[in-house]
Amino acid sequence: MQVHLRIKRFNPEKDKEPWWGEYEIEADPAERILDVLHTVKWYHDGTLTLRRSCAHGICGSDAMRINGRNRLACKVLVRDLGDHIQVEPILGLPVIKDLVVDMEPFFAHYRAILPYLINDEPPPERERLQSPEERERYDDTTKCILCAACTTACPSFWARGQYVGPAAIVQAHRFIFDSRDRGAAQRLAILNEADGVWRCRTIYNCTDACPRDIKVTQAIGEVKKAIMLGRV
Ligand code: SF4
Ligand code: FES
Repeated sequence: MQVHLRIKRFNPEKDKEPWWGEYEIEADPAERILDVLHTVKWYHDGTLTLRRSCAHGICGSDAMRINGRNRLACKVLVRDLGDHIQVEPILGLPVIKDLVVDMEPFFAHYRAILPYLINDEPPPERERLQSPEERERYDDTTKCILCAACTTACPSFWARGQYVGPAAIVQAHRFIFDSRDRGAAQRLAILNEADGVWRCRTIYNCTDACPRDIKVTQAIGEVKKAIMLGRV
């Protein structure tokens, strides 16, 4: 099928403002948006810049705004969008070039919630055991691939980049509700600060954007509840 593709382009070394590149390309309906972007880069304009690695929805490096919604380019098919496709960088992070944004502010928020096991108790002889029920408690949030689709779909984050954002809260949830971890109070105190969970207005854009179908808004709600119940 013939596809009309609009891609937001920006080269800070040459352009004062972003501009729309328009491309007419031949695509198979079963191709992914990532394939279509490769067609542009390999056969139309080699200067098009984008990030991707695994091409199978695992690495989280190709989150983009596709027809107005945050998606992984490797997980959306042409036939699901039709013959007019618009691709932009995710919003709220500085654009480095074309579809590549500076992820450092995003990862700074991630690091801020202490995304690792905290437990100073002497390690047992073998592993720290956990029941299936205890493991189930945070199973959903272990699926996060740090693609940033949720955080950069969030109007609260667009309005204030200091807001820690849904992805960091999801990652905090993964440890707060892990029975082996002892850092919950520390993380909840961080998330109880002005740019923590209370900036969330329960808009649900994050849940809609998540390519791993994580119940992001629910996870944020559970963290809010843990603070309210005084686990902080
Ligand atoms: Fe991506 Fe979902 Fe993790 Fe957010 S919660 S960073 S959308 S995988
Ligand atoms: Fe790895 Fe899409 S390229 S998730």
